[in-house]
Amino acid sequence: MATASGISVRPARLADAERIGEIHVAAWREAYADLMPPDRLAALNVAERAAMWRHQLASGTARGIAVAEADGAIVGFASCTMQRSPALAAAGYAGEVAALYVLRAGQRRGAGRLLMQAMARRLIAEGYRSMALWVLTDNKPARAFYERLGGVAVAERVDGGDAEVAYGWRDVASLIKASNENGAE
Ligand SMILES: CC(C)(COP(=O)(O)OP(=O)(O)OC[C@H]1O[C@@H](n2cnc3c(N)ncnc32)[C@H](O)[C@@H]1OP(=O)(O)O)[C@@H](O)C(=O)NCCC(=O)NCCS
Repeated sequence: MATASGISVRPARLADAERIGEIHVAAWREAYADLMPPDRLAALNVAERAAMWRHQLASGTARGIAVAEADGAIVGFASCTMQRSPALAAAGYAGEVAALYVLRAGQRRGAGRLLMQAMARRLIAEGYRSMALWVLTDNKPARAFYERLGGVAVAERVDGGDAEVAYGWRDVASLIKASNENGAE
């Protein structure tokens, strides 16, 4: 069902892999222009990303991948999984949102919130009640978004030269409740 702003979220399909790959690269270039070296962003490859997502969609992990559509066109996507960071798993965060990207043109219309809600539902369905994710320390817009959704900064690390902070949710059901309270469903 679409929200008042025309955004709807659905599980990703195999046929979405190319578009997800495009958004992955485009959103990195938009969001990280001031945070990563230009050559690193220039080296991103849509075909490689699309192949990675095609593999994930084909291998049965599709249930953890969702896309957001605005007026019938995909403008963002998210994926979730069991927690991959040993430190965050040890701290009791069972699940992880591994990717969340909305194209700039589609931002501030509720797509991010709806995608997080879809991830929360999937994590709960998989038996993960808690969740944490990593974000670049200097990615202030995304940090404001996660904080708005109730995430709490719980850890820091440097990963491959990137300084990152982890946001955690002890009860991911709060994301669904928060979305409903804000009229997103
Ligand atoms: C972070 C991101 C997913 C948010 O998606 P979105 O669709 O714009 O978010 P929503 O419209 O659902 O925003 C929900 C609320 O979060 C807060 N928020 C969202 N973007 C914000 C920003 N840039 N600055 C401050 N607060 C923000 C607001 O309170 C917003 O509600 P409002 O618009 O009614 O004020 C999106 O900006 C994005 O994809 N950024 C680039 C990629 C990225 O950084 N991804 C995260 C990697 S870890």
